[in-house]
Amino acid sequence: MTTTPKRYTITAALPYTNGPIHIGHLAGVYIPSDIYARYQRLQGRDVAFVCGSDEHGVPITIKAKKEGITPQQVVDRYHTIIKKSFEDFGISFDIYSRTSAKIHHETASEFFKKLYDSGKFIEQVTEQLYDSEANQFLADRFVLGTCPKCGFEESYGDQCENCGTSHNATDLINPKSAISGAVPTVKETKHWFLPLDKYQPWLKEWILESHKNDWKPNVYGQCKSWITDGLKPRAVTRDLDWGIPVPVPGGEGKVLYVWFDAPIGYISATKEWAAEQGKDWEPYWKDKDTKLLHFIGKDNIVFHCIIFPSMLKAEGSYIVPDNVPANEFLNLEGNKLSTSKNWAVWLHEYLEEFPDMQDVLRYTLTANAPESKDNDFTWKDFQTRNNSELVAIFGNFINRVTVLTHKYYDGVVPASEVDFKELTQMQEFPTQIGEAIERYKFRDGLSSLINLARLGNVFLQEQEPWKKIKEDPKAVESIINAALQIAATLAVLSEPFLPFTSDKLKNMLGLDANIDWNQIVNRETLLPAGHKINESQLLFSKIEDKTIALQLEKLEATKTQNAAQNKEVMPQKDTISFEDFTAMDLRVGTILEAEKMPKTKKLMVLKIDTGIDVRTIVSGIAESFEAADIVGKQVTVLVNLAPRALRGVESEGMILMTENDQGNLVFVNPDVTDIGNGNTIN
Ligand code: 2FM
Ligand code: ZN
Repeated sequence: MTTTPKRYTITAALPYTNGPIHIGHLAGVYIPSDIYARYQRLQGRDVAFVCGSDEHGVPITIKAKKEGITPQQVVDRYHTIIKKSFEDFGISFDIYSRTSAKIHHETASEFFKKLYDSGKFIEQVTEQLYDSEANQFLADRFVLGTCPKCGFEESYGDQCENCGTSHNATDLINPKSAISGAVPTVKETKHWFLPLDKYQPWLKEWILESHKNDWKPNVYGQCKSWITDGLKPRAVTRDLDWGIPVPVPGGEGKVLYVWFDAPIGYISATKEWAAEQGKDWEPYWKDKDTKLLHFIGKDNIVFHCIIFPSMLKAEGSYIVPDNVPANEFLNLEGNKLSTSKNWAVWLHEYLEEFPDMQDVLRYTLTANAPESKDNDFTWKDFQTRNNSELVAIFGNFINRVTVLTHKYYDGVVPASEVDFKELTQMQEFPTQIGEAIERYKFRDGLSSLINLARLGNVFLQEQEPWKKIKEDPKAVESIINAALQIAATLAVLSEPFLPFTSDKLKNMLGLDANIDWNQIVNRETLLPAGHKINESQLLFSKIEDKTIALQLEKLEATKTQNAAQNKEVMPQKDTISFEDFTAMDLRVGTILEAEKMPKTKKLMVLKIDTGIDVRTIVSGIAESFEAADIVGKQVTVLVNLAPRALRGVESEGMILMTENDQGNLVFVNPDVTDIGNGNTIN
């Protein structure tokens, strides 16, 4: 039998403060951790759920440089936006702090100094990449190059976003500076390294032997691969000017590596929270009866499973995580979510377009969470889950039972004389949902919750109280009483997943806001006969096709914009002579016939009146135009291009085409009012 921990320290990855947050962040980290924390609190357990803004690191400096503002201005702006998004979506952190806070600077400095004083670092002068144009060392994201492991050409200096490998900037193949684009030189500099190789035997035993069966396969698999490949010392300081100054002799002009300071941010946030609450922070990080959990995305696994635990082990007085339930990635409509490409559903924008519909997004993102593999968010799925599950099952059941209670009993819970089998079945749900949450299977937990609503809905459907009310009013009292007990159970069990709905429902039913999970497990009657419920309100409303179409149009516009921005500018070709130019015979022609070439995607066979003859030209425009739309159109034709056969059809010339500013193919249009059909242009 497993014993219940004395307390829970639950951390959620500190988001970088270089942009707002989107649905990928919510699905991967913040909703799962929030469900877990809310559930443990409902169990009456001692929980510290901590997070904050990750305000150091190169991405922030890059953003500041791009916008011509200071890094502090960048983090102040996004800290406020991100904090508000979390509040708006009901992410119930006990504290949302920031790594620019004084307490964090002190905690991280002390931590570093303790390791330094106890000889846990290797101090070494090494050659690091240097941008001599910008006069700057190229740490982390200041350098791009080919990943030595997977060959991805845009890997960052410290981590490859493609394969997740964490490496040193000097490992990159063909590195180039992200500041000036220059090929870096190398320059000697002193840094402090954490010798991860020393912790390898301990990591092997702790993860590979002790957590083989309880860590998620994706997390365990990544750890196994790093440990088996062999760990190397990692530099924990950088030559940068934005960050926490290195607090030891020789550290002038250097800062702590962001991945050294950020996870310590969990500890600083706990300290800040404990001080506010008048509590002692230490048991939350040092007592072995505390369950420490890190909720993260898969790109953060190495830092939370290998590097941070090695730091904690080196310090000596801390516990290490019991589990690191990392999620895979969420895509959006088939493409990777991307802040720089604006391929995202931003939380602050979602709320402007779907006010008060936080739970619909929480529901969709949990039902479709990337728990064991990457998953796709689509607007269609969002609509279907809302309309067919939340509205048609959950909302419909609650609406029926509350409306009928008001209609038949003036809102007063009737007495019951029957112990329906559904009430016995209902008793299984708290355990089923609780176990799923304890095993980080939030999708399963949510699906059980909706099954409970389904049970209530089917119960009413089968009992048909609206038909029995005349001939058997006594029976209807028991039916409505039972349905109300199911509704009350739903109000409590939905809290971790759908906190806004849970509040609204508790309010509607006149339930105490603080009912806990065990009152349900212990079969307490939540709505006794004679209790009066409040006015009925709709919990969810239908989402129309046109609302979804608008969102899809918005994404299409982003695609078009990106295509226009990413259009590669081809370098100018070799100079040609004036004679070469005049050798081209350009004419204005009229399309007489057009037909898509069978079995090809792009080719169209055209009959063109060039003014000198009617000829056949094969052109690659079939993906951009419908044949019927272009007949009669005037086009510019290069008539003296040597004929060539395309798929067996001889093409006698070329139609001039170009792209407009949206990246669409368009005809180079002759101005037919000035130049008559068939005249040469040059
Ligand atoms: O990937 C990220 O967004 C990082 N800022 C996560 C940091 S988690 C922790 F260690 F602070
Ligand atoms: Zn890679």
